[in-house]
Amino acid sequence: MRLWGGRFGEGPDSRMADFTRSIEVDAELALDDLAGSIAHVRGLARAGLLTAEEAEALERGLAGLRDDVVAGAIAWDPALEDVHMNLETLLTERVGALGGKLHTGRSRNDQVATDMRLWTRRAVGLLDDGILDLERSLVDLADREGDAVLPGATHIQPAQPVLLAHHLLAYVEMLERDRGRLTDAKVRLNVSPLGSGALAGAGYPLDRAATAADLGFDGVSANSLDATSDRDFVVEVLSAVALTMVHLSRLAEEITWWSNPRFGFVRVADAFSTGSSMMPNKKNPDPAELVRGRTAGVIGALAGVLALIKGLPLAYQRDLQEDKPAFFAAVRTLDASLAVMTGLVTTLVVSRERMRAAAEEGYTTATALADALVRRGVPFRAAHHIVGGLVGGAEAEGIATLAGLPDEAFRAALDGSDDPAARRLAHERGIAAALRAAATVEGSLAAADVVGGTAPNRVAEALAAAKGRLGVE
Ligand code: ARG
Repeated sequence: MRLWGGRFGEGPDSRMADFTRSIEVDAELALDDLAGSIAHVRGLARAGLLTAEEAEALERGLAGLRDDVVAGAIAWDPALEDVHMNLETLLTERVGALGGKLHTGRSRNDQVATDMRLWTRRAVGLLDDGILDLERSLVDLADREGDAVLPGATHIQPAQPVLLAHHLLAYVEMLERDRGRLTDAKVRLNVSPLGSGALAGAGYPLDRAATAADLGFDGVSANSLDATSDRDFVVEVLSAVALTMVHLSRLAEEITWWSNPRFGFVRVADAFSTGSSMMPNKKNPDPAELVRGRTAGVIGALAGVLALIKGLPLAYQRDLQEDKPAFFAAVRTLDASLAVMTGLVTTLVVSRERMRAAAEEGYTTATALADALVRRGVPFRAAHHIVGGLVGGAEAEGIATLAGLPDEAFRAALDGSDDPAARRLAHERGIAAALRAAATVEGSLAAADVVGGTAPNRVAEALAAAKGRLGVE
């Protein structure tokens, strides 16, 4: 068969055909390709290149193909290389020789660039929905377990108590930025390449703006060489996808630790766990691990597309066909990861007792105690030193928390300080009780009373704001 017309004396070598074919991957673009073709047909009619009857017949044929694609009733012919040649051939089978007019003023180069933008626009919408669902599940959990307390950590060591709700809302912040990045990318990607032809611009007076509007684009590309070979929008969306995966991976990582019985902060539902083929005791948070694991491939996809583009001269090069497999897979991976993480978070059972007990460990209220001294006139550095001494003393005595220290310990620590303000405090009535109150978990939480802090009133405000934004009751 002579796929490429008159210039070719023989058909493709099977090794070449197998190597260059893309239908297995780009069949994914079928609906976008058909939408582009329908808009193009209308454009050809507007330009007087098709009669109204011809345009109507072509559009009817294309709409019929669209129904068949939706129904999964198309048998793709691998000999026809890609989705564009397949659909054009099927159209011609259905409408006759008239099908030969479809490709007037169009190349597969502006066609595939258009398809990819339409596909990416749909992907952005899909992912936005998925991210919103996960955000809602995090907000619901924060609402349900609002006052559960976590041992906030830096360097993986106990640091300061934080509300679980505050911790969960940190992920909501990340995910909101991810949504913002996808929305930003959409502004630049929503531009129509149709009419750019193979590289130089179509040789017909096409009203590109009208066709663009028909496809829901916000405008037309300004340079045909750029439009047919630009894949910046793939890189932008893929980088937003990779970063979202990185955020999911961080959350997944936390859940794997939290569900370890040694922590016991949460229980992952059986429905989101797997067992072991050998160890009957095992219950593993495999979906979280796979989210973390698949993030690697998505990061690789981003690096791959950047590398793909970096050496390409203008304009279209066949290398660009390779923008699809890893990009499509990355979008699917994020979509599935969002769904599974939403399910996992929604069904998570929190053990407030275990969290609370851990939040008490490691003298996590030391900073709040030092701040309480500062509020009573002790310079921070001196307060830091005094509280450090109290921590060391408590540890040596086997006293688990600063709030558990006897009055005498507080007074002695103040009295032994180099700082005169601290020494004066040592003799103030009720000072030990006041410091002990500051050194409780509640005292520590309440003290972080700044915008963005973990004080319960601030977290309640942040939660209300997130609920408002997400339309959660
Ligand atoms: N399968 C090709 C791609 O994805 C379609 C465009 C082919 N254009 C060409 N001049 N061979 O890039």
